[in-house]
Amino acid sequence: MSRVLLLSGPNLGLLGQRQPEIYGDETLADHVRAATEAGRRLGLEVDHFQSDDEARLLAAVHDARGNAAALVVNAGALTHTSWSLHDALAAFDGVVVELHLSNPAAREPFRHTSVVAPVANGSIAGFGGLGYELAIEAVARLLDVGGPAGGRGTSRPEEER
Ligand code: DQA
Repeated sequence: MSRVLLLSGPNLGLLGQRQPEIYGDETLADHVRAATEAGRRLGLEVDHFQSDDEARLLAAVHDARGNAAALVVNAGALTHTSWSLHDALAAFDGVVVELHLSNPAAREPFRHTSVVAPVANGSIAGFGGLGYELAIEAVARLLDVGGPAGGRGTSRPEEER
């Protein structure tokens, strides 16, 4: 069974308490459960790692090399700043889906830049908790698992691999 690593960046451990008007009432554990169940339905094993520490997130991306077929990354505010994360993701030879609960493009200007987007197959943003299921479904299609609808997604651009 293909393995997917769901990565959660800084402050996402506070979901449920943190600005619920933006991020909703559900906890990170709720989202992980939804992603795990979606994975089970689609034949994907979903593991999760959350850290507020950039170095630990980078180590998780490095460890995923050869161990996971896909990464689903909600990097929190590191999305907008971390070229180290960008480079680590560029060195990951698999599917990368960028994920956000909110729609950063509709928020403050500093959120309009994503350093994750250029090294991702695609991005899912603005759908709240539903995004976790959509991200796993996108992975299943890109990996061509989980049924006849598989394999319609696009690949990352060659120059970014
Ligand atoms: C977020 C959006 C980021 O801009 C923010 O820093 C977060 C959460 C989201 O899921 O909407 O921490 O990634």
